[in-house]
Amino acid sequence: MAGGVMRLDKFLTEMNQGSRSEVKQLIKKGRICVNGEREKRPEYKVCPDSDCITLDEKELVFVHYVYLMFHKPGGCVSATEDHREKTVMDYIQEADCPRKKDLFPVGRLDKDTEGLLLLTNDGQLSHRLLSPKKHVEKKYYVLLQSKAGAKEQQMFREGMDIGDEQKTLPARLELLADGTEGYVYLTEGRYHQVKRMFQACGNQVKYLKRLKMGSLTLDEKLKPGEYRHLTKEELEQLQK
Ligand code: URA
Repeated sequence: MAGGVMRLDKFLTEMNQGSRSEVKQLIKKGRICVNGEREKRPEYKVCPDSDCITLDEKELVFVHYVYLMFHKPGGCVSATEDHREKTVMDYIQEADCPRKKDLFPVGRLDKDTEGLLLLTNDGQLSHRLLSPKKHVEKKYYVLLQSKAGAKEQQMFREGMDIGDEQKTLPARLELLADGTEGYVYLTEGRYHQVKRMFQACGNQVKYLKRLKMGSLTLDEKLKPGEYRHLTKEELEQLQK
């Protein structure tokens, strides 16, 4: 909403200054000033970009965009709301995340898939990262039911029929240890894609974890269920 206007009480709730009724109290008590003038109307329209809004003389700087690196645990769905299931948003604390209500996950991981999920309110960045034309590479760690080898690696390289109209794009399978573990590199994001590719090879995925998306690498210090804001460098790389 760059350049837009919003109600003063909404501005304050978005900046985590309390619930709607709590921020109305702050306003009524005269603790909020807009451009140096005390403002007592919750419905008063402010321009978050250009107005100087203070609480007890301390400026509240508007945060437009939030970018969180989330280590998705198994057992939650990549949605903002769900009537039955726990969602990724249930892990995010409002106190350390302004704009929490506007956040959404960039793409989806299956309920049982773990790993890197970017949460943001930046629709343009999300669109760019997910656009099929951009071929943003995703890296996954995979644990398999049975051993894979050169034949599977070739199938990944050449693209395969997984029941869709089009074959999969060329992908890479790097195998570890005895061939039951490895890394998969994809430049597209079809529904259940990794699992379906191994099924097409007569194998089965036992565990799947996303490690990378474009330039963004899952921070090993984050335990499943934990998150942190992206660093300036991470964001710059991602926006390139
Ligand atoms: N491929 C899958 O099969 N599942 C995911 O969650 C992501 C990629």
